[in-house]
Amino acid sequence: MKIFGSERKTVDKETAVEHGKCMLSRRKFLMYSGATTAAASTVSISLFAGSAQARQVPARVVGYPRKLIGKLSELKENQPLDFNYPDDGPNTIALLVKAGVKCGGGLGSEQDVVAFSYMCTHQGGPLNGTYKVTGEHRTLGQCPFHLSLFDVRRHGIIVSGQAYESLPQVLLELDGDNIYAVGIMGLLFGRQQNVQGDSTISIGAVGQPAKVS
Ligand code: FES
Repeated sequence: MKIFGSERKTVDKETAVEHGKCMLSRRKFLMYSGATTAAASTVSISLFAGSAQARQVPARVVGYPRKLIGKLSELKENQPLDFNYPDDGPNTIALLVKAGVKCGGGLGSEQDVVAFSYMCTHQGGPLNGTYKVTGEHRTLGQCPFHLSLFDVRRHGIIVSGQAYESLPQVLLELDGDNIYAVGIMGLLFGRQQNVQGDSTISIGAVGQPAKVS
């Protein structure tokens, strides 16, 4: 199983550095990503801090879904496939593309399979149909609203235009021939959190299991 085009336990150092340079701080990444690409994880949280009832309890935090979005063998170079992630709600339209050139976070032997949100980070202009090949460059845009252009090879950073946030990159995982979406780097336009309802936690207090939404 691979993530970011390398073995899951040894995430490619160059890619990690690129992420740090090009897009988000680690803190922001964890905030947006939910700190996990698994469906759920268990954390310890404090209840009633500072009071006589203060206690630590385990909490189950819901994260990103792992969604099958395509097969590596079926991708045709520079022919994007559309999909929705992390759900089918508003502002979740995204593209999966085999760019034919190495990309930051790319999957496959050529590290050229990447996925991005189609929603411009400025004011939500639709970037559908704007994927473009220009020599060695791969871009999304120009946005039909205010002409922002994003670099597909470099984690969706802004090339030009009004936007000031990189285009959210969908994190991918390869399992055999199957390509899964497992998270998003960056905040989708129009959402306060990418995974809606991920504030829902179930708390298993000692001897008193309970659910909190
Ligand atoms: S909405 Fe895309 S540049 Fe303004």
